[in-house]
Amino acid sequence: MNRFFNFAAVASTVLFTGGAAMAQDCAVSVVEPFDLDANDITRIYDCMKDKMTAGYTKKGNKIAENYRNWAVTGTRPGVAGPHGERLLLTFANSIAVEQYLKFEEEGVVMPAGSVLAKESIKIHKKKKKAVVGPLFLMTKVGAGELPETNDWRYDALSPSGKPMKIKQSYCHDCHLGYAEQDYLGYPLEEVRVTN
Ligand code: HEC
Repeated sequence: MNRFFNFAAVASTVLFTGGAAMAQDCAVSVVEPFDLDANDITRIYDCMKDKMTAGYTKKGNKIAENYRNWAVTGTRPGVAGPHGERLLLTFANSIAVEQYLKFEEEGVVMPAGSVLAKESIKIHKKKKKAVVGPLFLMTKVGAGELPETNDWRYDALSPSGKPMKIKQSYCHDCHLGYAEQDYLGYPLEEVRVTN
């Protein structure tokens, strides 16, 4: 059974009605994120991919413009829970990638300059469509520079590319649970890239 509405059909309707906003809609019939299967998630991601880039880069953020050229750390987005039941896919920059992809569980020390960028997609239950969520960022600064967050800086870009006001402690208090992994939560095991 096709659990999705037909994207192609939606797109051709738009051609005739000229509705630009509708052209970008990614409809879903399964609205509970935890009920989505791997195929659903891949299809949602394919539909949302360009929409995310268009949103995150709107204000000219450099990381937003570059992270898709970094190493992708998941085979598809995972639905992990702690980040608001969103579909999550993390990219690692060239400084972070070697250590990150080992997904080590003990004694991890990420090099300064490491950046992890995590895309997110939210399922809008009422509208039955996928919408762009924030781009979550973690940057490892030099040793001792940010003692309260163990030298990580947390940032988030809104779906329209604006820096969001976030409390460092809000993010770090939860990431503290992963201290042995240098505060990294890692993607769900089932979606981790193997190397
Ligand atoms: C309630 C717990 C929780 C909170 C609050 C939280 N995170 Fe996370 N974060 C996680 C978990 C769990 C993961 C790994 C899951 C995944 O990415 O699939 C993660 C992963 C990440 C990653 C990918 C790197 C990694 O850890 O593997 C980034 C970047 C990130 N979070 C940024 C943030 C930012 C920025 C905030 C604050 C706005 C934040 N997080 C708040 C739990 C949390």
